Amino acid sequence: MLNLILKRQSIRKYKPEKSEQMKQEIQTTINSLRQLGNCPVYLELAETDPGDKGGAPYYVFIRADNNSTCGDDAGFMGEQLILKLTGLGYGTCWRVGSGPRIPRVKDQRNLAKISVGKPDQELYRKALSEFKRVSTDKISGGELDKIIVEAVWLAPSAMNLQPWYIHGAGDIIHVYRRKCAGPLYMEKITSLDIGIALCHIEVAAAHLGFTAVFENAKHPDIEGKKYVTTAILQKKNK
Ligand SMILES: Cc1cc2nc3c(=O)[nH]c(=O)nc-3n(C[C@H](O)[C@H](O)[C@H](O)COP(=O)(O)O)c2cc1C
Repeated sequence: MLNLILKRQSIRKYKPEKSEQMKQEIQTTINSLRQLGNCPVYLELAETDPGDKGGAPYYVFIRADNNSTCGDDAGFMGEQLILKLTGLGYGTCWRVGSGPRIPRVKDQRNLAKISVGKPDQELYRKALSEFKRVSTDKISGGELDKIIVEAVWLAPSAMNLQPWYIHGAGDIIHVYRRKCAGPLYMEKITSLDIGIALCHIEVAAAHLGFTAVFENAKHPDIEGKKYVTTAILQKKNK
């Protein structure tokens, strides 16, 4: 899936096409997603009404239990969905601010949605230079593998804020979130972004032949950054 990270882009123009096969493919992909931790995340496939302003034929609504802090978990699962659907030829885009309203479900809170459909624009970028990202030294430090750094660097984020920072060496990757001074809801949104970055670390680690295990570990304090977790890379059994 690393090849998808290196060329995917948010798709905002979709063909109106819908079919039972598409619904089944999207649902099967949802059912295949792995959780990050124990926090339950609910993904619901929804069809849009004709003429919906979001422009996509399908949406996946993402919710968590009330009072839970499952932003990272939701980002982790949602980004797996994005990468897997991209690999199947679907266009996707994370949405927090645009698209249809997510209907409320009792005792759950709405976190985000992902638009899905056949793209009516190029599905892939042609070159890394098409990614609008800060330089890698702004999001990473230490002696990390270039592939891990690149996978995090290219991750999508709300308003392209790129709020992550990774630091470490070899098989130890400490993950931080840039402290954000904005309103509380920004903290919630950036926790989705962090989950997305964790998904990209897992994919890059798998590419290098490792399993990424996420746990709290001894880490250096870094000014202006809040520690989130550490990815420990373990060699996969052959
Ligand atoms: C949590 C999250 C929320 C987002 N919300 C929106 C949105 O409401 N509307 C939109 O057009 N794009 C949204 N995006 C897409 C970002 O703008 C996009 O990922 C970023 O600009 C980087 O571009 P790329 O995904 O094409 O690489 C969101 C992305 C994330 C990760």
